[in-house]
Amino acid sequence: MVLEITQIGNPVLRQNCEALTVEQIESEEMQQFIDDLVETKRDANGAGIAAPQVDKPWRIFVVEVANNPRYPYKPETPLTICINPTISFLTEERYDNYEGCLSIPDLRGKVPRCPHIRVDALDRAGQPYSMEVKGITAGTFQHEDDHLNGILFPDRVTDPHTFSTWAEFELRYQEGVKDSVIEIVEKWGE
Ligand code: NI
Repeated sequence: MVLEITQIGNPVLRQNCEALTVEQIESEEMQQFIDDLVETKRDANGAGIAAPQVDKPWRIFVVEVANNPRYPYKPETPLTICINPTISFLTEERYDNYEGCLSIPDLRGKVPRCPHIRVDALDRAGQPYSMEVKGITAGTFQHEDDHLNGILFPDRVTDPHTFSTWAEFELRYQEGVKDSVIEIVEKWGE
């Protein structure tokens, strides 16, 4: 079932989300919720979505990039479900990520992100896993993880002059961003 996406201004997007127990994860309701979260992300053409974006204050997000019309220049990422995640930065380096968010209609802005991270999380069976994520995809994971702590991407935009609507972005910045994405992908391999 496609769920309704909460919009900036809704307090659920500003709260510290709750960790889930393995028992909660295994429940039929939570398994259905995870399916709905994935379906909602795909329906909205998001690169990722976090539980508070569908009105649930839980520490869970999903990331998946496959031929995304919202982000045609992004490298593909298989469906990954992160529950109770911890993100560790593996380099001091930062790169500029031009972000958007399903909960903030028609706005993009440039956010500094770490291009090499480790994600420790539980999968949908409640099993722990650890993975390294690099490049542009690492930025997507950091954006989704921020949602679990009530942080939205404009909070992290260091230069407000980079704010742009999607139409202005496509008209003025997309070509340049594409080139910098290609550079990051070449450097980090993702
Ligand atoms: Ni978002």
